[in-house]
Amino acid sequence: MKKILLATGGGDCPGLNAVIRAIVKSAKKIGGFEVYGSIEAFNGVLSKPTQIVKLTPKMVAGIHVRGGTIIKTTNKGNPLAYPTQLPDGTWTTRDISADLTKKIQDLGFDAVVNIGGDGSQKISQALFEAGLNIIGVPKTIDNDLSATDLTFGFSTAVQTATDSLDKLVTTAESHHRVMVMEVMGRDAGWISLHTALAGGAEICLIPEIPYDIKKVVQKINKRYGKGRGFVNIVIAEGAKPTQGEVVGQKSRDIGDEHVKLGGIANYLKQQIENSGCPAQVRTTVLGHVQRGGTPIAFDRILATAMGVKAFELIVAEDFGKMVTYKNNGISSVKLTEAIKKTKFLSPEHYLVRTARSLGISFGD
Ligand code: F6P
Repeated sequence: MKKILLATGGGDCPGLNAVIRAIVKSAKKIGGFEVYGSIEAFNGVLSKPTQIVKLTPKMVAGIHVRGGTIIKTTNKGNPLAYPTQLPDGTWTTRDISADLTKKIQDLGFDAVVNIGGDGSQKISQALFEAGLNIIGVPKTIDNDLSATDLTFGFSTAVQTATDSLDKLVTTAESHHRVMVMEVMGRDAGWISLHTALAGGAEICLIPEIPYDIKKVVQKINKRYGKGRGFVNIVIAEGAKPTQGEVVGQKSRDIGDEHVKLGGIANYLKQQIENSGCPAQVRTTVLGHVQRGGTPIAFDRILATAMGVKAFELIVAEDFGKMVTYKNNGISSVKLTEAIKKTKFLSPEHYLVRTARSLGISFGD
């Protein structure tokens, strides 16, 4: 009997459970495999006693419709920068990838599937180099992994954001207000652009095109010039003004090196008000609702297909790969390729041009 270990790492995202279910069901169908889950990414392996659960077909029945991850996740257990307390009580981080690899092998696992975003796939590559039989499955609502056209979770996040924008549009119109809605996405504008297009925003601000506040105000004034207007602005959390920085705070958690983005909507509100623009401005920071809830049908299917592909790679013993969705098909690339670069929105992207044709302003 071969043993497979699953881990979900980084921020959660709708579709994780569908991947888990697909692997467990594929393993059951072919036989000769047992599937386990490490609780909270690889912390389940590292904790004493270990927190590893056997995943039976019964446990995963119907979970593809549920958000989150039944094996939990964390962004605090990076084995490449693992929090370690020094004798004087202070904290530092160290690379424990070799120790983690040995532990997983000693526990008798033949293969590992690491389901996670860019950070998790860097961990996958380090563990592969340390000798682990590992496969990566990409996930993130941010859709910023270059090796795959889409990540599951992204379309659900866009749907959630669009539903919210639809609600803001009617109140903006009724009150003649400027509504600023801040969406996630880190340094990529995918969620912002898709939401602005789907919901029909007038202004879309993305990290890849720094905005000029004068241009934003011009667009607002133009709308108000035609009478008592209203404006809906979708702004990515990683957006920034031409002469300014992203708004965020360094994480206080040891081992989580990310800057926690957030607050640009309120900053923009201040800028609009300081410009003398008379319109009332209200802000909505959508936050983690974008990550939660039920995956839409497309994400369930994408996640399921990715889970099945991950299992096929295990059977073929084709390790060191990450599953991808390219040109409407499922394939795989070397992890080294997968982690090379972040997928940003090009200002020439067809959807940027589409938005411009509709008169959506990027503040440039
Ligand atoms: O990467 C996914 C994501 O939701 C980003 O869009 C966001 O910036 C970040 O995670 C939030 O992280 P946390 O859950 O740690 O607040």
